[in-house]
Amino acid sequence: MKFFIDTANLDEIKEANDLGVLDGVTTNPSLMAKDGVTGKDSILKRYVDICNIVDGDVSAEVISTDFNGMVKEGEMLASLHKNIVVKVPMIKEGVKALKYFSENGIRTNCTLVFSAGQAILAAKAGADYVSPFMGRVDDTTWDGTDLIDQIAVIYGNYGFETEILAASIRSPLHIVKCAEIGADVVTCPLKSIMGLLNHPLTDIGLAKFLADYKKGNK
Ligand code: G3P
Repeated sequence: MKFFIDTANLDEIKEANDLGVLDGVTTNPSLMAKDGVTGKDSILKRYVDICNIVDGDVSAEVISTDFNGMVKEGEMLASLHKNIVVKVPMIKEGVKALKYFSENGIRTNCTLVFSAGQAILAAKAGADYVSPFMGRVDDTTWDGTDLIDQIAVIYGNYGFETEILAASIRSPLHIVKCAEIGADVVTCPLKSIMGLLNHPLTDIGLAKFLADYKKGNK
């Protein structure tokens, strides 16, 4: 399973990258705004800065909602760095753009996916990644893991090569659930990645090992 971090914050990206388990980064306009990155030039510079930290796929989202605009923007984003994956929303024009990009060697991540039907369209259009938003599905009292499970079955039935990138991850438990059901990728906040480290018995065990070492080495 690949680990992506879901942020535009460079310090968080560096911290996750230093852990040695990071495979990529996802961003979106909300995450850019949350980190105070506004304006086209600053946003493009941030993509390049991220690509210079992480040796892996970096999703950069188009703002256009029409086919021609998405194509123009996606081509410009892809030209920024070889690691860029163009993030395209699951709308009618987006499906057309996904198909165009897949035929023209530009890698894509289809975002804002909330149903298996949408995931089928994304795969048919040749998306490299599909992003079901697990946490936001949970927010509606449906189970996000069921959606990911359903997409995995469908993709398996037909040998679709689109990778399932579980997004809107809110906790370490979400990550573990995604691993159990075989999501290809999870994109998570730093807090959820670091949360995987925690277990009180590890802390108690380490404290005892260190105390015993001290006793024997006075
Ligand atoms: O990867 C998508 C993500 O950024 C959305 O997360 O927590 O806003 O639903 P959230």
